[in-house]
Amino acid sequence: MPRIIPISAHTQPPPALLRVAQEDLQGPLLDQRQRPLRDLRISVTDRCNFRCTYCMPKEVFGKDYAFLAQSELLSFEEIVQIARVFVERGVNKIRLTGGEPLLRKHLDVLIGMLKQLTDAGGKPITLALTTNGALLTKKAVQLKEAGLDRLTVSLDALDDGIFKTLNDVDFPVQEVLDGIQAAHEAGFEKIKINMVVKRGVNDQEVVPMARYFKDSPHILRFIEYMDVGNSNGWKLDEVLPAELLLQGLAEAGMPVTPLAAHHTSETASRWQHQGGGEIGLISSVSHAFCSQCSRARLSTQGKLYTCLFANEGVDLRAILRDPDKQNSSEEMGLLLRQTLHATWHARTDRYSEMRAENTHFPTQERRKIEMSYIGG
Ligand code: GTP
Ligand code: 5AD
Ligand code: SF4
Ligand code: SF4
Repeated sequence: MPRIIPISAHTQPPPALLRVAQEDLQGPLLDQRQRPLRDLRISVTDRCNFRCTYCMPKEVFGKDYAFLAQSELLSFEEIVQIARVFVERGVNKIRLTGGEPLLRKHLDVLIGMLKQLTDAGGKPITLALTTNGALLTKKAVQLKEAGLDRLTVSLDALDDGIFKTLNDVDFPVQEVLDGIQAAHEAGFEKIKINMVVKRGVNDQEVVPMARYFKDSPHILRFIEYMDVGNSNGWKLDEVLPAELLLQGLAEAGMPVTPLAAHHTSETASRWQHQGGGEIGLISSVSHAFCSQCSRARLSTQGKLYTCLFANEGVDLRAILRDPDKQNSSEEMGLLLRQTLHATWHARTDRYSEMRAENTHFPTQERRKIEMSYIGG
């Protein structure tokens, strides 16, 4: 029998709706720690064609696993309706994630629809996408033509054996590398390459990956393995902290020097190779960045999560599909605006900071949403 860990997708009633005047439902929105809302990550499918051992292990996400039915997913119209409200309140970047977002049918149509959104100053929002790269060779041109601005590809090893062990579906690394090349040729000039480093599993790939991308236009980012979800059996000693990683690069003859941040809410610190390109370190375990976190997440089913480690989301789809409100889009819009306002206003999340402050942090006991459901 497969070990079934049901996705923790509890629904939280929206925080008591504040009696907010219409005119106050506009402009920047701050949470309890004065963090603005800037970044919306939308998961467009809970499915993936990989079974990365740290994210969707096969023994949990096996062939009997009940993924969401099509009718459960937000439609493109619903996604855009929700995204518009977020953009009104300060979001200027939307990232499409999954699961594997390229598995969602007609994704190019959604990209085209989201690209119509403009921020309060009339500027188009930035549209980004995170993919495992398996379908990139086929879809890169279509994504570019649809209006996608930026692309991030997950790649955890160059060694084919290690890559296959990690994706657990025997997918060859060369096809992902070809996908990156195809995307580059399609016009994605600077692609971010995300490598999750798990000590004892793929840390020997750090130096080869750094060497491979050093003289390319792309930005390789090393991510500390995190305790997301409930399926990956995370342990602190499997994390390779940023300092040790930097030391390893220097010992291999690739010292890097720090670069200034582009903006305060960036996940990655930026570093530069001597005479070469840029790398990033996403050190959310050793250096938590909650104090600047401006990210909201919308699940495939339309639940709003204010933290990657949340266990409850606020059901926005229920507002859109409320049979009593079908005839009044104005009323629905107002309720969406009020719910976003109340939820972000009440936000206090700082999970990674709390983990760092408490060495006996009960990460396994706390139920969290799965990353494949909510999006990385
Ligand atoms: P850009 O800066 O726009 O390129 O994107 P990003 O770095 O915000 O997004 P990306 O999806 O590439 O994030 C990279 C990885 O950082 C994710 O896969 C997660 O592992 C981690 N990450 C992203 N956002 C958060 C966050 O809010 N909290 C924590 N703890 N980790 C995050
Ligand atoms: N720790 C860190 N990052 C993770 N991702 C998935 N699971 C984890 C984890 N346990 C991120 C990876 C992947 C993206 C889809 O989600 O960056 O590229
Ligand atoms: Fe799929 Fe990405 Fe999760 Fe791997 S990390 S299983 S590619 S969603
Ligand atoms: Fe933001 Fe939560 Fe990540 Fe902290 S742990 S950076 S609050 S998503």
